[in-house]
Amino acid sequence: MQSRVSTLEDGNIGKDPSQRPQPRGLPMRRILKVLAFLLALGVVFSAVSVYITRYYGLHSVVQRPLVGLQPCIEVVDALARWIRPPSTVTHAMSDEELFWRASFVPQVKKYPFERVPKIAFLYLTIGPLPLSPLWEAFLKGNEGFFSIYIHSLPTYRDEFPSSSAFYHRQIPSQVSEWGKMSMCDAERRLLANALLDISNEWFVLLSESCIPLYNFSTIYQYLMGSQYSFVGAFDDSGPYGRGRYNFLMAPEVNISQWRKASQWFEVNRELAVTIVKDTVFYPKFKEFCKPHCYVDEHYFPTMLTIEAPHLLANRTITWVDWSRGGAHPATFGKVDITEGFLNRIHEGHSCLYNDQPSNLCHLFARKFAPSALEPLLRLAPTHLGFGDQRQDPGT
Ligand SMILES: *[C@@H]1O[C@H](CO)[C@@H](O)[C@H](O)[C@H]1NC(C)=O
Ligand SMILES: *[C@@H]1O[C@H](CO)[C@@H](O)[C@H](O)[C@H]1NC(C)=O
Ligand SMILES: *[C@@H]1O[C@H](CO)[C@@H](O)[C@H](O)[C@H]1NC(C)=O
Repeated sequence: MQSRVSTLEDGNIGKDPSQRPQPRGLPMRRILKVLAFLLALGVVFSAVSVYITRYYGLHSVVQRPLVGLQPCIEVVDALARWIRPPSTVTHAMSDEELFWRASFVPQVKKYPFERVPKIAFLYLTIGPLPLSPLWEAFLKGNEGFFSIYIHSLPTYRDEFPSSSAFYHRQIPSQVSEWGKMSMCDAERRLLANALLDISNEWFVLLSESCIPLYNFSTIYQYLMGSQYSFVGAFDDSGPYGRGRYNFLMAPEVNISQWRKASQWFEVNRELAVTIVKDTVFYPKFKEFCKPHCYVDEHYFPTMLTIEAPHLLANRTITWVDWSRGGAHPATFGKVDITEGFLNRIHEGHSCLYNDQPSNLCHLFARKFAPSALEPLLRLAPTHLGFGDQRQDPGT
């Protein structure tokens, strides 16, 4: 790219004025004047084109019909415009504008270029990501196969170094509260921002307390090979399930379609678009599912059960431990992280994967406290399948 531009400049601008053949029979002073004028013009022209190249990108220069340019360059460049991910995750679009833009779907299903599908990791956080060193170890060496998006409190400013996969990946965020529609808005915002990159194929919602349970290639293959998206969706006839249904949601949603699940999902691109483009169910949930109806437990599972039941696995692949009882799942800290504990998370599960029995049922787990980082980093090479064996905990 760079060399193409400098060639253009060298060939068209730099040489011309000084290399013109001298006209004969004119007085010397006049010739000198003309030469000086042309030289000045050349300098101004080069300065202007350097400015244009630097501030308006290559296109404004490349797309001008310059001598010697093959027409195919313009065509390739035009397609690249649609393929290239946005250079930054910051933008000034409102949610309405963003969701509209993110809902664009190509109608020709075969991509006319080599598309390497990526996993978009969507971090729904309050602020810092204390477990980011573990994620960095997990992601290392897999550049080009994932992208990162972070939604946090709008006032939070991350401090990741430029070498980090998390550097400058904070999307324009708004305050979101558990159990309220603002939580679903934040999740839709994450999906919509990630949809702007046409290479993102799977969308994994995570919190700051989530960890990966296997190496990248295992997780990548599991997701890319799945016919179904991983959204929990169960029909709970009790007070915390159907008991939260409001009959004013009919006819868009009736009680037999009402579903419940934890919010942590892994969806493919098709379902991500379904969620982002929804204008039918959204107003019903916003108006009629308020505490004690916790909308983040019902909106996506119910809406997707109505819109695309054949694409749902009806289970999540994010492991969590409810066995300790109470209103919240267990949080694991430093003393909990042992070899035996990690073995227990990996073993003894059975589920269906692409309609076949499988023992690999969870790819991610929550909830882990910041103090769990050190033992997790230490055990990751032997028990999670990634990371540096000789990891120095101090760095
Ligand atoms: C990832 O883990 C799987 C299963 O443990 C292993 O077969 C594979 O070699 C690992 N891949 C890499 C790149 O380490
Ligand atoms: C709810 O919707 C389902 C599926 O469309 C339908 O079979 C059922 O009769 C409906 N129930 C009510 C009470 O409307
Ligand atoms: C998930 O549940 C829906 C109905 O709610 C059903 O149509 C679908 O087949 C289920 N998915 C799988 C993989 O069994």
